[in-house]
Amino acid sequence: MRFRTALTAVAATTALAFAVPLGAQTPPPLKVGFMLPATGTFAALGDMIEKGFKLYVDEQGGKLGGRSLQYFKVDDESEPSKATDNVNKLIKRDQVDVIVGTVHSGVALAMARAAKESNTMLIVPNAGADGITGPLCAPNIFRSSFSNWQPGYATGVVAAKKGYKRAMTITWNYAAGTETVKGFTEAFEKGGGKVMKELNLPFPNVEFQALLTEIAAQKPDVVFAFFAGGGAVKFVKDYDAAGLRRTIPLMGSGFLTDGTLEAQGASAQGLVTALHYGDNLETPRNNAFRNKFAVTYKANPDVYAMQGYDAAQLLGAGLNAVKGDFKKRNEMVAAMKKAQIDSPRGKFTLSAQHNPTQDFYVREVKGNYNVVTGVAVKSLADPGRGCKM
Ligand code: BEZ
Repeated sequence: MRFRTALTAVAATTALAFAVPLGAQTPPPLKVGFMLPATGTFAALGDMIEKGFKLYVDEQGGKLGGRSLQYFKVDDESEPSKATDNVNKLIKRDQVDVIVGTVHSGVALAMARAAKESNTMLIVPNAGADGITGPLCAPNIFRSSFSNWQPGYATGVVAAKKGYKRAMTITWNYAAGTETVKGFTEAFEKGGGKVMKELNLPFPNVEFQALLTEIAAQKPDVVFAFFAGGGAVKFVKDYDAAGLRRTIPLMGSGFLTDGTLEAQGASAQGLVTALHYGDNLETPRNNAFRNKFAVTYKANPDVYAMQGYDAAQLLGAGLNAVKGDFKKRNEMVAAMKKAQIDSPRGKFTLSAQHNPTQDFYVREVKGNYNVVTGVAVKSLADPGRGCKM
């Protein structure tokens, strides 16, 4: 009896094998691991990235390159000390094909090291750590966002053009802060200005009072700040409450006012920043993206949502080229390298180190929007210092 059952099973399997041509078998879903912050000062940024990514996939009918996706998730807490363990949950435990993450530069550097060692494909949808597309660059590591140097440099160009001569900078003391300030200083001093003092506090500390007192005493022409998420909300409000907004112009890379304006309210009005996105870019591509996002999520997108959307576009460019066959890694990487991404920010390509070469806009806060008032630097490429690939 048992023998007959086994025979029937063999016959059924054989019949199935003949019925479905080998090439037509549906491949298993591609495993995509999100490593993003779900808690802490950058939690909202992580949420926006995931929403943007999934929006693009939904627009493609839930597939990229004809391949369906299965999602895995790890909350990285924006905590560098846990980053290696966290990324290994995706690489070793879940055995994902692609990792998408993260927001925090310190966490992303550990992810890049682990991705490089294990040859896992990594797409960075925010963290700007220069090293990712510098000394840590690798064929399997891509970025859909920016390097920290880029928005810092672009803001330095704008500040120098405004004629400011003496600047103070203020930021968190970690890769994103120090590298953004470095980019700002490079452009600002090239344009004739001088950074007279750099102020720092540990991430994600928001006790700004002593530093604001020092700014008030030194009276620079301009203050340049890098903060983002919850920290940016608190800083902009404290700067205003200290009476500084009316006396010492505050500028920043656009993260200072992106995704934060409802919470910052009147304290952010009129602030000028530079970034690779603006809410009112009047292009059919951006309008379609913003409308679809608003309808789907009942919220306005921000720069983080746009970068998540473009991370999915970049992965899609690779998977389209190989019709979803992830094993054809070399072909896939070649297609991603030469992709021209039709982004809501405007079209962009990747540098040799896999970082977007893109326009940076001047933006001014009006109501709840970062309104584009001009172009800070066209087609700004990260120098990719230290990358050997
Ligand atoms: C970073 O850590 O690289 C980062 C975080 C938030 C906004 C921009 C950059």
